[in-house]
Amino acid sequence: MREGELFGSWTERSQIFRNRELLRPSYLPERLPHREEQIGRLARILSFPLRGETPSNVFIYGKTGTGKTATVRYVLGELEKMGRKLNRGIKGIYLNCERVNTRYRVLATLTNSLLNGTSSVPTTGWPIDVLYETFLRVLDSEERVLIIVMDEVDRMVVKKGDEVLYDLTRVNSELERAKVSVIGISNDARFTHYLDPRVRSSLGEEELVFPPYDALQLRDILEERASGAFQPGALEGGVLSLCAAHAAREHGDARRALDLLRVAGELSEQEGAMRVTLEHVRRAYEKLEEDKMVEIVRTLPSQSKLLLFSLLLLVERGAEKVTTGEVYEAYRRVSLQKGLDPLTPRRVSDLLSELEMLGVVSTRILNSGRYGRTKEISLNLPTRQLRKMLEGDGMLLPHTVSLLRQAKLGGWEWTGEAW
Ligand SMILES: Nc1ncnc2c1ncn2[C@@H]1O[C@H](COP(=O)(O)OP(=O)(O)OP(=O)(O)O)[C@@H](O)[C@H]1O
Ligand SMILES: [Mg+2]
Repeated sequence: MREGELFGSWTERSQIFRNRELLRPSYLPERLPHREEQIGRLARILSFPLRGETPSNVFIYGKTGTGKTATVRYVLGELEKMGRKLNRGIKGIYLNCERVNTRYRVLATLTNSLLNGTSSVPTTGWPIDVLYETFLRVLDSEERVLIIVMDEVDRMVVKKGDEVLYDLTRVNSELERAKVSVIGISNDARFTHYLDPRVRSSLGEEELVFPPYDALQLRDILEERASGAFQPGALEGGVLSLCAAHAAREHGDARRALDLLRVAGELSEQEGAMRVTLEHVRRAYEKLEEDKMVEIVRTLPSQSKLLLFSLLLLVERGAEKVTTGEVYEAYRRVSLQKGLDPLTPRRVSDLLSELEMLGVVSTRILNSGRYGRTKEISLNLPTRQLRKMLEGDGMLLPHTVSLLRQAKLGGWEWTGEAW
């Protein structure tokens, strides 16, 4: 191979993309169509520090992909710009509580962000009250308004409690020069029930709801992003509408619509096509669905994987209809063979309901059984694909072969018992 040949063809200008980065979820667009109302309300609430007052705390919720993170980052950016112009100390700190998920981490991250590299507190090890005092001292060292965005705040609260929210929503009474406002973002509206009532009322001083986008709104959003992302004429007519329609059916998720468009573009590029077609969108949809399923199966608890594996064995043996009794018996044997205590039929029934909720299996109630309510279960994904996913999982690998052999012998009998 001659020098430069390996990468030669890849460095040519793409026929399809002009700037693929514009379609990435992390890209913050300059315009957010159909979020004018939310942007306006948030801007009004957060504008108080421009007049030297403390803004209220805000609780924001809406389903995934409805533009919560993008809107807050956008408004905060504008507010900071305006603050600099008016020479007001306004600082926004963005925390993703999925990662920054303990009281210690939150306080340490805030403190270090305020210290701005001049010095730092350790990311672990200090007594929490010392850390809190340090945070207060650093924060109050100058006159300013700190706006703390706690994105995906439910992830932290459900796991680790709401102590730090308690700290932060009360902190103003301990400050002389600085002021604090907290913006909590969640895609679970029920999450506030987990909160201490005092935190709930304080965080929810102002509430902002982000409704799902409909297909037409999603189309506008895509159009805006696509105009910079693709070469002129690279999209076949109807591509944007099809992406928008798919995403609208799945609770109006803009991230999903953008992913579809990006993946469709990548597929067409990979095959050297001149344009992105409706067929590329259809295949992109299938690919994303498959990726989603892989992720769901990968993150299942191990008992659910065992249950799914048992169901897979039965289906692979040719059973078209599998009843709950049959799958329980298979599960019991698989567990025993792995040296595990099988869960009770009741618990397994719960796991099965969860698998159904996640879309991995479907069930149908058969009322005909002598023993009462039996369900019939079917897999929602091809056996080959499921086998690949489960085999890729170290937990099942050593047993797969022997279990399959046993399954092929056909020596299992089903009690047919209902549960
Ligand atoms: N109105 C809009 N205009 C342009 N792009 C948008 C708009 N709303 C959302 N997006 C884009 O869609 C993607 C998802 O939006 P965002 O991350 O803000 O959703 P979210 O509500 O925070 O979702 P989650 O609850 O999953 O965190 C991002 O790439 C964002 O830039
Ligand atoms: Mg978000």
